[in-house]
Amino acid sequence: MSKESLTITDNRTGKSYEVPIERESIRAMDLRQIKVNDTDFGLMTYDPAFTNTAACKSGITYIDGANGVLNYRGYPIEQLAEKSSFLEVAYLLVSGELPNQAQRDDWVHSIMTHTFVHENVNKFMDGFRYDAHPMSQLISTIAALSSFYPTAKNIQDPVERRLHIVRMIAKMPTLAAWSYRHSMGFPLVYPDNDLSYAGNFLSMIKKMSEAKYKPHPVLERTLDVLFILHADHEQNCSTSTMRAVGSSQVDPYSAVAAAAGALYGPLHGGANEAVLRMLREIRSVDRVPEVIKQVKAGERRLMGFGHRVYKSYDPRATAIKKLADQVFEITGRSPLLDIALELERIALEDDYFVGRKLYPNVDFYSGLIYDAMGFPTAMFTVLFAIPRVAGWLAQWNELVDDKDQRIARPRQIFTGPARRDYTPMLNR
Ligand code: CMC
Repeated sequence: MSKESLTITDNRTGKSYEVPIERESIRAMDLRQIKVNDTDFGLMTYDPAFTNTAACKSGITYIDGANGVLNYRGYPIEQLAEKSSFLEVAYLLVSGELPNQAQRDDWVHSIMTHTFVHENVNKFMDGFRYDAHPMSQLISTIAALSSFYPTAKNIQDPVERRLHIVRMIAKMPTLAAWSYRHSMGFPLVYPDNDLSYAGNFLSMIKKMSEAKYKPHPVLERTLDVLFILHADHEQNCSTSTMRAVGSSQVDPYSAVAAAAGALYGPLHGGANEAVLRMLREIRSVDRVPEVIKQVKAGERRLMGFGHRVYKSYDPRATAIKKLADQVFEITGRSPLLDIALELERIALEDDYFVGRKLYPNVDFYSGLIYDAMGFPTAMFTVLFAIPRVAGWLAQWNELVDDKDQRIARPRQIFTGPARRDYTPMLNR
């Protein structure tokens, strides 16, 4: 009969150890008993970039990377993208279940009545240089919110926690839009709470002299769907940052600012910006074979391709590709789309990409949609950050209630010099 355990023999000592297997995993701490002698520290695992280490148990997002499956709280992303709204999905992520009508109305009302930020935020943003990247502005203003809400430190109080989750989801579009308006030198637009979450964001981005901004319904819905598709993605770089920083029990604004910093990098949420820059630099379809050659020679990466977890088509990329067609019908077809389609066509047939299981990821087509909708390239990661806040906060909320969690503190394998005495300057 099979037994849910693993027997390990240490060939240094000849001793055997039996460690339990739970949910296809062993506890790393069970290896610590494996020692050469009593003074030995015990065995550790070495896992740079955490490629095979589960740092938490989570009930929020499920990914099957081999089969291109992504579910939030069990609901397939395709169904949510088709039938739900971003705020409903945010509720689902944070609360665990889809809301009933009364819960949804209450949630939407709470979010849409917390969209304003303290007027000092406006003054604070004025201090940024005229060419400050909107993502730098966003990260800094999220961190600054911590100073406006000192009670956010009471993270053990679920009521307080809920209030700051609502506040942060509500204020993200305002901070994001203002970072854009500031970098363009445009006057700031205050929230319009009669509009939808996505519609209000578009209003704060686009509104000029008109009394009331009316978002195009297709573009409003497209943005809402993009928000759904970006809302959570389990333990990626920024979410792990949220959890690591949150494990120190700091307030959620400080932890979200750290997570947003992680998202900014070109290998993570900054990839959508990198994709557009790459497509612009390629310029025309006939240059695609040359670029593929450079990628295969290891001279560059194909941005928007590859994923640590997905070893098949990213299901978010499939949904985004469909959205792109709808948007281009309104905005006109982007000439960059042909370059993207050709890159994808060649890559999907080429042994280099097929062998390494490199497929388009969420960032490959999202930038083209943002571009068509008139967002400057520098705003793309900001557009990713707005909905991802819901995922970060859901994960943080789960972390705070998780009795298994303590302050995150990985180990190291020390490779530096052994103890030595200080050398006076004259002897160096
Ligand atoms: N273009 C060309 N080759 C690639 C690419 C790429 N985009 N991605 C991976 N490879 C190759 C890589 O050179 C390596 O080849 P070899 O085995 O010969 O050395 C192999 O594939 C494995 O790559 P890796 O870097 O070990 O894979 P990883 O899991 O550490 O990295 C990744 C994942 C997403 C950082 C990487 O695929 C990448 O840099 N992609 C481009 C940036 C990008 O699109 N990022 C967005 C990710 S999805 C959204 C998000 O997370 O925010």
